Amino acid sequence: MKAHIVLLPGDGIGPEVVAAARRVLEEIGTARGHTWTFTSKPIGGAALQKNLPPLPDDTLAAALAADAVLLGAVGDPAYEKLPPSERPESALLKVRRELGVFANLRPARSWPGLEQSGPLKPEVFAGTDLIVVRELLGGLYYGEPRGTDPATGAVVNTMRYTRPEIERVAHVAFRLARKRRRDLVSVDKANVLEVSQFWRTVVTEVGRGYPDVTLSHQLVDSCAMKLALAPAGFDVVLTENMFGDILSDEASMLTGSIGMLPSASLDANGKGLYEPIHGSAPDIAGQGKANPLAMILSMAMMFRYTFGKADIAARIERAVRSALAAGLRTADIAAKGIKPCATADMGTAVAKAL
Ligand code: IPM
Ligand code: MG
Repeated sequence: MKAHIVLLPGDGIGPEVVAAARRVLEEIGTARGHTWTFTSKPIGGAALQKNLPPLPDDTLAAALAADAVLLGAVGDPAYEKLPPSERPESALLKVRRELGVFANLRPARSWPGLEQSGPLKPEVFAGTDLIVVRELLGGLYYGEPRGTDPATGAVVNTMRYTRPEIERVAHVAFRLARKRRRDLVSVDKANVLEVSQFWRTVVTEVGRGYPDVTLSHQLVDSCAMKLALAPAGFDVVLTENMFGDILSDEASMLTGSIGMLPSASLDANGKGLYEPIHGSAPDIAGQGKANPLAMILSMAMMFRYTFGKADIAARIERAVRSALAAGLRTADIAAKGIKPCATADMGTAVAKAL
């Protein structure tokens, strides 16, 4: 196959993890006769440094024209005093919206060999294999009005959802559940929020079309507790934008490190933006310390969801397992006393294992 892939390395550790993923992609291309073309564009703080807006027009145009987009990370403390609408992160929200990627899939599983890397007891998360389906274009992140109300001086954000916004992401989650263990937990705060009551009603209605999937509802606070208590009990977790942001960071601890959790953000036609869930980690940027596996696993998701090549996705995931089995560990997943490998070495090891 041929594909045009746009790389948005972004800030902090973004460029390093994207370079490692590209190395793996090139290996797949050479070994299996695929042709990839790449365009790399600035986003976030990297664009601001060039005196461009956080999401330059040219970057957006390239992303819209691409077959798939790989994004490293966005966020730079140098700009933390700016209002949200001018910060590097605003580029991420805008590119997601312009690409129409409303369904954000964030799979968390326990990886053999990494049982000791995270803060949880291995017996708590053994056998965990769940996926968070986070609604990505609604809720508090985009709701209007927002900002300061000049009349009162109060500062406002708005949690807003329409029926079609809930329906489309619910369908994605139910279809996914059908391919998995047919268990879907929808997460909300229906004991307090009208938006959540509506969310619950709409998800229940959509669920009638999937009688083979078991649907249950959980309040977000209780879900946060159960994720740490009995994570293996979850299959598909469907939730709104901000709850999904928070729960997926929590879920990353089940994988051993936030550096292990990939994501796919999909539009209605399966076109996607692929990004690790971690941020730009400015404290370790440029030092070769970052774990590129979340980025590499995001790229595997690109093969599964956008290119319809589940075989290549599985091959990449197997290669990650072999690199881990061979003992390679970046600092975030290295046990005490084990010398960590560099970002690029992990990329090379995965490429070789292919
Ligand atoms: C994520 C990140 C982003 C989000 C930030 C950087 C805007 O935390 O992808 O989870 O909140 O969506
Ligand atoms: Mg987040």
